[in-house]
Amino acid sequence: MNGPAGHGHSPAPVRVSLGARSYDVRIGRGILADLPEALAECLGRPPRAACAVIDRNAETHARPVLRALADAGVALAEVTIDATEPDKSLETLRRILTEMGRARLERNDPVIAVGGGIVGDVAGLAASTYRRGVPVLQCPTTLLAMVDASVGGKTGVNLQVDGQLQKNMVGAFHQPALVLADTATLDTLPERHFRAGLAECIKHGLIDGAVRDGSHLDWIERTLLRILARDPEALAELIERSVRCKAAVVAGDEHERLDAGGRAMLNLGHTFAHAIETIETLTPTGRAEDAPLLHGEAVALGLIAAAEAGVALRRSPPGLPGRVGRVLGACALPTRIAALPDDGVLLARMGADKKSSGGRLRIVVPLDGHRAEVVDDPPSEAIARGWAGIRLGETTHG
Ligand SMILES: NC(=O)c1ccc[n+]([C@@H]2O[C@H](COP(=O)([O-])OP(=O)(O)OC[C@H]3O[C@@H](n4cnc5c(N)ncnc54)[C@H](O)[C@@H]3O)[C@@H](O)[C@H]2O)c1
Repeated sequence: MNGPAGHGHSPAPVRVSLGARSYDVRIGRGILADLPEALAECLGRPPRAACAVIDRNAETHARPVLRALADAGVALAEVTIDATEPDKSLETLRRILTEMGRARLERNDPVIAVGGGIVGDVAGLAASTYRRGVPVLQCPTTLLAMVDASVGGKTGVNLQVDGQLQKNMVGAFHQPALVLADTATLDTLPERHFRAGLAECIKHGLIDGAVRDGSHLDWIERTLLRILARDPEALAELIERSVRCKAAVVAGDEHERLDAGGRAMLNLGHTFAHAIETIETLTPTGRAEDAPLLHGEAVALGLIAAAEAGVALRRSPPGLPGRVGRVLGACALPTRIAALPDDGVLLARMGADKKSSGGRLRIVVPLDGHRAEVVDDPPSEAIARGWAGIRLGETTHG
């Protein structure tokens, strides 16, 4: 680790290379304190004004740096958000835009998002639409947001349609000007959310070989005990490796236009996950009070289902679902789940996923533990094998 002076465990910044829209992801303990300086540097001058969008549960981390910005003469508008999926809404977007308008933010005045993926997504969308686009700084405070949501420029809110929550249905691509991932903010992150973030890291491990050396999953398996103990160096390296993988995928396909490969790879496990994460009654532990599944928990189940489907399609080796299940299980993530609806219902819910293409179902299956492949129109038997692999009492892996 070759960290800059003053911060322990800071890997070199990861560059997301997108021509004029390129930016750095800085990772390290305590680096939120650098925000005033970093902001001036990436904007080319200190901002006159800014709008901070703050996750209520990350406020203690945001407060000191916002005070420093105000002391430096930045006029700050502030919006505090409850990070729930129903609050990731057009109403919350309207609240942020209204505060920005009230503060008369101008074209170069940034939005600063401090929080998990929900706050980052809605703040990013506000930045993309206010005056047709102002800069956004992402300061992720969950593991999932550090390794996934804050990088790549996808922003959005959910849409309520006739009582149904359609996830991320309204959004835009809007790359951040800078990402500051301060690992000290993870000190307060509840264990369940921390482990949910590990599911996305493991997903990156399963696709890393398409864009990098493919060592990520092996490294996670070798380093897991230190990661679970939140060893600062292991955490910083985990985030760096995951961000490097995501950055390389995004750099090759910024707007998800490639038919196969590219950003579609990042959907590994997600077509299965999206079919179950909005079923309010599903619980990762069997205890009703733990329902519904967190996104990362649904992804964990989705990764195993995708590997099982891959085996059925003869794309994945027979041992892969077991390997994926073991590493996820060691993270105390769910690997099987009770009370799944029938296959027919699940298939219909998968078809409703917006990533299915042209009315045909599209899934991504892992190939060898390092790479993955898009499969269009998979036979329903392969999908059924996927669901059977995670249905409690009907396991085919282990
Ligand atoms: N834009 C993308 O590319 C992308 C990628 C993946 C996920 N997402 C979106 O991200 C969201 C999930 O993000 P998430 O997992 O970060 O969840 P989240 O934003 O819901 O945060 C999880 C919980 O942790 C709390 N929290 C945040 N930081 C904390 C801290 N430091 N200490 C204590 N509590 C803290 C939040 O208030 C919330 O209760 C979903 O809406 C998903 O659609 C977006």
